[in-house]
Amino acid sequence: MVNTLLEAFNKTTYPVVGHGKRDIQVLKDAFDELDGTIDSDIYGTGKVIEDFQAKIAAYLGKPSAVFFPSGTMAQQIALRMWCDEKGIRKIAYHPLCHLEIHEQNGLRELHQIEPVLLADKNSLITLEDVLQMKEDIACLLLELPQREIGGQLPAYEELEAIAAHCKAKGIKLHLDGARLYEILPYYGKTAAEICSLFDSVYVSFYKGIGGIAGAILAGEEAFMTQSKIWKRRQGGDLISLYPYIISADQAFDERLPKMEQYYHDAIELAAMYNDCDGITTRPVVPVSNMFHVHIELPKESFEKLLIPVFEETGVGLTGNVRDFGEGSSYYEVSLGDRYADIPKEQLGQAFTLLNQKIKQIIA
Ligand SMILES: Cc1ncc(COP(=O)(O)O)c(C=O)c1O
Repeated sequence: MVNTLLEAFNKTTYPVVGHGKRDIQVLKDAFDELDGTIDSDIYGTGKVIEDFQAKIAAYLGKPSAVFFPSGTMAQQIALRMWCDEKGIRKIAYHPLCHLEIHEQNGLRELHQIEPVLLADKNSLITLEDVLQMKEDIACLLLELPQREIGGQLPAYEELEAIAAHCKAKGIKLHLDGARLYEILPYYGKTAAEICSLFDSVYVSFYKGIGGIAGAILAGEEAFMTQSKIWKRRQGGDLISLYPYIISADQAFDERLPKMEQYYHDAIELAAMYNDCDGITTRPVVPVSNMFHVHIELPKESFEKLLIPVFEETGVGLTGNVRDFGEGSSYYEVSLGDRYADIPKEQLGQAFTLLNQKIKQIIA
């Protein structure tokens, strides 16, 4: 007998989302075949860190890259440096971007930077929003894809137009590319092509890539040299970061080629959700490996309905449903390695059962 949705999800044979359990086996596997005499990195120097930084800089098409323990640290530092360069303590970004809602006001508290919120929180930032902006800003941050609205993306031409406008106006453009690899199949572009529109870029190694933690900030040589000073000031210059770097490097090589598959899997799964009464995905057709599932039922009633679906079919759709205003709820779906292991018949049964149960309540 299970009490919570998470307990039920954790007991399923076929969890649908992610790559696997985030247990310490991830680190053990990364080190399994390695020679124990490899030197560790020391305060940002050494072969392990320098080779990885050079590899990712080349991949992103930027002259230089620096490894940081977190994207939170890397991005606040990048924005601080752009503000210092311009002598303006203002930047612009989406109202639901990571810096605004998940970083305890780090930009304001640590750097006295005032954000300008662009666009309605349920929409993407458009060229029009940027053109209409009254404030003088040092930098515009774009998050691709925009996670908190289901991982939506602007048309590539819109992105190019925003980049051209920023260049013309002397506004620096920064990319929150926490999920950059995941959008490459949809845009049909290389990472370097997309990054060429941006002055600075952050990418992550534990989301779609599935490493333990860690981030890279990439840009021009002088900018990146300066970012190392800030990394030290902020306490991010750990004596050794190799556990993160080695797992990031291996996961990058293993999963980058699978991004196309995750993207097609997301399209397939979203269609199954959209066939259910009272459920729509956002976006309806995913543009990456992620989407949000919106349900016309409150969290509690939907959870009650999901638990027996998990128990009867062994398929775990999610462990975390959240309220979404007036009698509705939602959750995030991010596809990775696990999806390929689910027998299609079992998945089909789970959706048939889910739909039956929803119909009984909604009808
Ligand atoms: C869009 C986005 N930006 C930045 C971050 C910050 O990354 P980190 O957890 O490495 O600080 C996250 C983490 O979830 C994210 O989703």
